Amino acid sequence: MVKRVRTAVFPVAGLGTRFLPATKAMPKEMLTVVDRPLIQYAVNEALEAGIEHLVFVTGRNKGIIEDHFDRQYELEQTLERRGKLGPLAELQKELPSAGRTSFTRQQEPLGLGHAVWCARELVGDQPFALLLPDMLFRGTPGVLKQMMDTYEVTGGNVIAVEEVPRDAVSSYGVVGRGAGEDNAFRITAMVEKPKPEVAPSNLIISGRYILQPSIFSLLADQPKGAGGEIQLTDAMVTLMGQEPFVGVKYEGTSFDCGSKIGFLAANVSYALDRDDIRGAFLDELDTRNLLDAMIEPDRRAAE
Ligand code: G1P
Repeated sequence: MVKRVRTAVFPVAGLGTRFLPATKAMPKEMLTVVDRPLIQYAVNEALEAGIEHLVFVTGRNKGIIEDHFDRQYELEQTLERRGKLGPLAELQKELPSAGRTSFTRQQEPLGLGHAVWCARELVGDQPFALLLPDMLFRGTPGVLKQMMDTYEVTGGNVIAVEEVPRDAVSSYGVVGRGAGEDNAFRITAMVEKPKPEVAPSNLIISGRYILQPSIFSLLADQPKGAGGEIQLTDAMVTLMGQEPFVGVKYEGTSFDCGSKIGFLAANVSYALDRDDIRGAFLDELDTRNLLDAMIEPDRRAAE
């Protein structure tokens, strides 16, 4: 039997430079998609997959994330007094229960690999899930749950992957595909941010991982890689020589909310998906001729 995954790690120490000035004093993980901060979607995905312990690797200016996952007594009492029971229930439903969150700090921005290593004491000697909150996934069940289902069969290390156009691979980690099923297969290679011509495939590492704790000792000695940062992918390459890695081509859609375009697309898509917003949102876009502008790019350019 494989060892159950109880803990999820959320690296939330990044500076969010691509969203300045919005992220000058506010963490990028608190940027909202419709009415929830990005981090809430990742946490909900983890809870849906059965995760019990949420570990946040934070940094300076990130205290508000800890507040977000705490109770707000005054607010709750006010909502109750005013009879706003719907929003109150929603607040309470999405709050991890007491004692299930832990916070530690990455003291220097040395890269994703270093951020994950900072979680080692809180994770301990057990497999863990890793969710990069920039990547927003819509799938039923959620992507981490889909990975858990595979992990229960394969054990080892599991990575969510997806196909992107060849010329986009250099923004991501890229895997090589080995034997297996169409949607779950052995990973034979991994490269962080390769040039398209040397990438092993167009399957990228999507920002969801299930990893064995052996990664921590490798990260401890990991030299800097792409972009002068300590890269998780480089440590995983070493671990691949010792333990199996399985790629899960998940069902669903993803939004790379680390980029403005992905973030804007996520807001439109999530709004259109909401029964309470869709109709009024479409009407508003229509009134402002924005629907036409989206359909007719020539007209938009001329205006
Ligand atoms: C990180 C990982 C990369 C992965 C990506 C997904 O890169 O290093 O392998 O493909 O997340 O978003 P970053 O976006 O931090 O540059």
